[in-house]
Amino acid sequence: MSLKVKSMLITGTNRGIGLEFVRQIVKLPHPPKWLFATCRNPDQAKELQEVAALNSNVKIMKFEVTDGDGIKALVREVEKEVGEEGLNLLINGAAVLHRVNLEDVNEEVMVNSFNVNCVAPLLLSKAFLPLLKKAVKKSPVEGLSCDKAAIINLTSKMGSIGDNTSGGHYAYRASKAALNMISRSLSVDLKPEGILALAIHPGWVRTDMGGPRGLLGVNESVDSMIKVMGSLNEEKAGTFLNYNGAPIEW
Ligand SMILES: NC(=O)c1ccc[n+]([C@@H]2O[C@H](COP(=O)([O-])OP(=O)(O)OC[C@H]3O[C@@H](n4cnc5c(N)ncnc54)[C@H](OP(=O)(O)O)[C@@H]3O)[C@@H](O)[C@H]2O)c1
Repeated sequence: MSLKVKSMLITGTNRGIGLEFVRQIVKLPHPPKWLFATCRNPDQAKELQEVAALNSNVKIMKFEVTDGDGIKALVREVEKEVGEEGLNLLINGAAVLHRVNLEDVNEEVMVNSFNVNCVAPLLLSKAFLPLLKKAVKKSPVEGLSCDKAAIINLTSKMGSIGDNTSGGHYAYRASKAALNMISRSLSVDLKPEGILALAIHPGWVRTDMGGPRGLLGVNESVDSMIKVMGSLNEEKAGTFLNYNGAPIEW
């Protein structure tokens, strides 16, 4: 089943996986009417600007995910565009990976990782709830799905406690484990509202974050995640999935 959303928003779209999402989503058989693509520095986001120049449904929005006032302004801007149609899909993609080991880890990197990787996705999800609920009201679709209303948090297998056999990466691992817990709580709290929430790991991908030794290209990872998103239903609420839809241990 192909993803068929009317409106969606993705954070961190100037590079890497976020940019590839934008590139592939505009080419879907049923592209969204509104694709809100956020990034910190739109003026420098040349590749994103190129996609937006060819696709009028792509709206680039300046957004630093840790800026509380920025969240309010972003929601207002999106609401101005979508009105009573609401927002179908929120993808929390922006994240930071501080490469610190036990010797280097300190308060600053821990706090920054938590702020960007789990506090921001939670606060953004909360801020967009009224628009997600509007999308539920407007949707003729039964059950839970991305087409109706969903929050997808891009997490990491490095946030899996069960899978952690190599240690290190305190800030990133802990912040993604916390994001996983947030995703699970969101799924429980929002299921009665008709909103799906879950966490997806994109695989080890060759981006600035994943580095050149990653096992997947952005194309393959995002293509697979979009297919998975198109097939999600209530059974997948609150799960922790690999990019290919397979479950990952917590
Ligand atoms: N690549 C992998 O192998 C891999 C594996 C597992 C999970 N993931 C997850 O997949 C997602 C995308 O990763 P990626 O590989 O595409 O990473 P990336 O290439 O490093 O891109 C990170 C994105 O996040 C944005 N960002 C960082 N801090 C931000 C902030 N404070 N406010 C707004 N935007 C901010 C960056 O914007 P700037 O350019 O402005 O910094 C950039 O757009 C992340 O959630 C990551 O944890 C990736």
